[in-house]
Amino acid sequence: MKILVTGGTGYIGSHTVVELQKKGFDVIIVDALFNSRIEVLDSIEKITGIRPEFESFDLANQSLTDDFFARHNDIKGIIHFAAHKAVGESVEQPIKYYRNNLDSLMNILEAMDKYKVPNLVFSSSCTVYGQPDAEHLPVSETAPIKKAESPYGNTKQIAEEIIFESINAYKGLNAIALRYFNPVGAHDSALIGELPLGVPNNLMPYITQTGYGIRECLKVFGGDYPTHDGTAIRDYIHIMDLAKAHVVAVERMVNEKMKKSFEIFNLGTGTGYSVLDVIKSFEKVSGVKLNYEIVGRRAGDIEKVWADPTFSNNELGWKAERHLDEMTLSAWNWEKAYRSN
Ligand code: UD1
Repeated sequence: MKILVTGGTGYIGSHTVVELQKKGFDVIIVDALFNSRIEVLDSIEKITGIRPEFESFDLANQSLTDDFFARHNDIKGIIHFAAHKAVGESVEQPIKYYRNNLDSLMNILEAMDKYKVPNLVFSSSCTVYGQPDAEHLPVSETAPIKKAESPYGNTKQIAEEIIFESINAYKGLNAIALRYFNPVGAHDSALIGELPLGVPNNLMPYITQTGYGIRECLKVFGGDYPTHDGTAIRDYIHIMDLAKAHVVAVERMVNEKMKKSFEIFNLGTGTGYSVLDVIKSFEKVSGVKLNYEIVGRRAGDIEKVWADPTFSNNELGWKAERHLDEMTLSAWNWEKAYRSN
């Protein structure tokens, strides 16, 4: 059974491709390589022994997208990862984000209707919850959607609405939106991992690059949050746990186990860790003393969020299994392996 993975050479995409192949799915990747590298295909092949089919074009281009689906009439499901994801950049260049993230989704939905591709898994984000009120922590799927803090976050909210309305309009379409908390870590082989171009925005690659000596000092954004150590809390989830959830979602769709045509699931562990907790874990597993300093808060950051994964655990029969130390260790192993090549 063939699954299209858009953004399949990216961070979450590449790990998901590996899991799909392990489960016997045929994978075709479409990726414009805006923020990923073609060599990822070699790494996937090294891990699984199978080179995924690959095409490089921009899904925000309607005629190229239509042409792709016209040529591939054997696709049974789509996992749509391809999107821009830098929160800060989205504030500076909002139109770039709306155009890319929404045009690509709309082109895919139109093609799904036209070419009768029934199943879509969409990459959403816990950013849709903003800072949940105390009574909504841990945050479940029924918590209120807050006004987005950034154009990036807004593209995820609007995308969920576009999917919902399209599913109502185009009969025979199903979708699952997966709201990720903070994906970190790498494949155990250390052949694939997170590969931010330039200076990382996110915590884990900044930690491992500082540990490796590429960055001088990690800035911890905010030491005065109302948390156990003053630093902000997130629900970090191992990338392989996240990848597995995508396979479960695809199987749920193709095996017609969905309870309604648009379902939404949180992907988190249910445990929150502070920035200092993550640093301590990194220092423990790597044996490296990390150079860091606590500075002012980062604009747009929320103080704490972690998932209530009960609904995903019960409905999907999926549970995040890996602990924080496995996340930091795999991220560190990947950083070292990548740099020594
Ligand atoms: C953000 C987005 C999320 C998006 C994700 C991936 C929001 C609210 N969240 O998550 O939707 O999917 O990026 O791009 O928009 N930190 C430091 N120093 C650093 C970097 C980070 O202290 O150099 C801290 C942050 O302040 C935060 C935590 O580490 O408390 C995690 O930050 P980060 O990895 O950037 O992810 P989020 O901001 O949670």
